Amino acid sequence: MASHPYSTPAADGPEHEGAKGAARPPSSPPSPPPPPTRRATSFAAEILRAARGDGLYRRLRHGQTRGQYITIDGHSLINLCSNDYLGMGGQQGGEAASGGARSGDSGDNTPAGTGQDGTGQGEPAQIPASSRLLSGGDASHMMLEEALAESKSYESALVYPTGYMANIGAIQTLGAAWNAEKGAAAGSVIFSDELNHASIIDGCRLAGGSQTVTYAHNDVADLERKISAHAGDGRGRTMIITEGVFSMDGDVAPLKPMRDVADKCGAILVVDDAHGDFVLGESGGGTPEHLGVSPRDGRGPHVYTSSLSKGLGSFGGYVASDGDVVDLCVNRSRAFIYTSALPSYFALHAYRRMLASDVMRSRRAKLAHNVRRLAGALSEAGHPTESNTHIMPVMIGDERRAADVSERLYGAGVYAPAIRYPTVPRGEARIRMSATAWLEDEDIDAVGEALKSAVA
Ligand SMILES: Cc1ncc(COP(=O)(O)O)c(C=O)c1O
Repeated sequence: MASHPYSTPAADGPEHEGAKGAARPPSSPPSPPPPPTRRATSFAAEILRAARGDGLYRRLRHGQTRGQYITIDGHSLINLCSNDYLGMGGQQGGEAASGGARSGDSGDNTPAGTGQDGTGQGEPAQIPASSRLLSGGDASHMMLEEALAESKSYESALVYPTGYMANIGAIQTLGAAWNAEKGAAAGSVIFSDELNHASIIDGCRLAGGSQTVTYAHNDVADLERKISAHAGDGRGRTMIITEGVFSMDGDVAPLKPMRDVADKCGAILVVDDAHGDFVLGESGGGTPEHLGVSPRDGRGPHVYTSSLSKGLGSFGGYVASDGDVVDLCVNRSRAFIYTSALPSYFALHAYRRMLASDVMRSRRAKLAHNVRRLAGALSEAGHPTESNTHIMPVMIGDERRAADVSERLYGAGVYAPAIRYPTVPRGEARIRMSATAWLEDEDIDAVGEALKSAVA
């Protein structure tokens, strides 16, 4: 019989024998030591040894981020790997986006001013410790969702604890809904860009038996060819999914022709805009606004997923779509139902960041300047970028060499980690540089100089 979890363990196991006085007779010889055994977890060490040999080992590095700098092991480095593109992750909306940290001020990067007591200070209200469908949601979630839906021109939005979960949640919900229809499973197919993010790939794996077909990166002709080969049934059981701005390449998905293909084939277009949201577009509407395919005039993605922890400088993720799709996520999305809600502390934090639209506008202008300057610095260093966004990979190729280049940059005061397989395909290792509004001209010039000697 299983014991009750709170009961005192019965004192009858081997470790209690001594206590019960069942000592060995004094004449018994000492038992021989057990034969050496491999640790049951030795497989982990073997895998890690192989990763080291292949130049694919990753180790945690802890740093303190302040403005455009990150301090690691006592070294202050120019931070070229932050996703806080607009510098909104600092003090309240990052009013003092740049410069502050250098002058040695408090540089407080914690989400200050988000207390729910209305004072803008101190502890948030009690952590709800429950899923949204139970007692985990409050007014801050609703305010944030309304603001997100309105600013992205969708009927409705739903906040998830992270952007990763928003992707898994949305894709699984749609796949499961289709496959619950009688006889539909065989026909439901997800067409996914070959360079899509891990959270999209994982969402496809959870999509209730839908088949996943990858198409060549940003290649609309290949997409169309592959959809035709699968003869979509025109009833919305075909999904096309892409990132808006590709996280490791910095290029932008051709959403206009992709939406045309979706319309032609009766598919739905899902866009994960984690890296374009709040950053691209006149009003920060992301890649759809940047490309002039707003959902307002029926030309945008049918479903839009994003992260709140990049352009907005907060934390969390969300799905936006028409009201029924969002309601379906509330009812069917396992990543939404079976986990604790995003703490209202962060919902309110994100909401307040969204109110700072003027700050974000000026940050977008500063970021655009920095993007141009960093692109110029990379060209001058002999590594022109093909990207025209804030994400600029410096292609290296070999994994070990990329790790070496990253170490040399570190030595020269620049923090830009190597991105290797499996995040990117084998043999396509790179140094991923991201421009942020935090950077000043002299930082960017220093990056160019450091790169020249690091790749020499
Ligand atoms: C393209 C893409 N989608 C989704 C995510 C997940 O977002 P989050 O960090 O909020 O979980 C990331 C994270 O880096 C990403 O790059």
